[in-house]
Amino acid sequence: MSSPEPIKFTDGVAYERFMAPWSRSAGTLFLDWLAPRAGLSWVDVGAGNGAFTELLLAKSGPSSVCAIDPSDAQIATARQKISARQVEFSIGDAMALPYDANRFDVAMMALVLFFIPDPRKGASEMVRVTKPGGMVASYTWDVMRGGPPTQPLWEELDTMGIPAARPPSAEISRFAALKALWAELGIRDVETRELVVERTFANFDDYWLSMVVSSPSGIVGKLSDAESAELKRRLQDRLPASATGEITFHAWATAIKGRKAA
Ligand SMILES: C[S@@+](CC[C@H](N)C(=O)[O-])C[C@H]1O[C@@H](n2cnc3c(N)ncnc32)[C@H](O)[C@@H]1O
Repeated sequence: MSSPEPIKFTDGVAYERFMAPWSRSAGTLFLDWLAPRAGLSWVDVGAGNGAFTELLLAKSGPSSVCAIDPSDAQIATARQKISARQVEFSIGDAMALPYDANRFDVAMMALVLFFIPDPRKGASEMVRVTKPGGMVASYTWDVMRGGPPTQPLWEELDTMGIPAARPPSAEISRFAALKALWAELGIRDVETRELVVERTFANFDDYWLSMVVSSPSGIVGKLSDAESAELKRRLQDRLPASATGEITFHAWATAIKGRKAA
């Protein structure tokens, strides 16, 4: 089996159909759990097409948000969606944030840490740019225990002998790995929790278009007609429809939060 191409986020519009609804559901639970007061300065690292940024604006009343992502395409979509004066978008890497030390009240990543080649460097950058006593938080799909909404697709592709790319730093989605990293970085008052979310697709075609065709893996373009038909059949067997044709399944993420030492 040849190794799959790494996952690349090159289409912010496709992302809206693929992952943004999942991101909003998990992000809602995450923000409720962080329970931040209004008027804080935030950095949203790996902001993507702004799915979480929009939620943050609506729910948490930030004074400012620096939203940064290395993908031009994701940030272009975010800029089209969000015109709030508090938000400043930038292109950049989590492992070398272009911000001064001790600048933000909250540094966070939504569904990002497991995509970073060196999660320790990414997390240490969040700590560096956070004010003493500020919050450093993250959540990722629980890849090692089957939590991502892409799990059915990945597993069926694996069974067909077609390699499906996983996030490169999937190990960091384990609670033990997250807690060890936050402790190593000297973060205090650390808490973790699981975020469980559900999404309903109108029918199998809606699922297929959202989670397979719109996937950043570009998998559909790489399949023969026969492979595509087999994958559809497998996924239809695996994700049974309700009497009205809807498909519902859940996904879960591991979240962590703590405070930079004062
Ligand atoms: C699953 S998306 C999450 C986007 C958004 N935070 C959300 O909740 O919808 C993962 C994002 O991580 C970004 N990413 C990948 N590598 C990164 C890195 N080294 N630094 C910052 N962001 C990165 C990708 O470009 C992509 O937009």
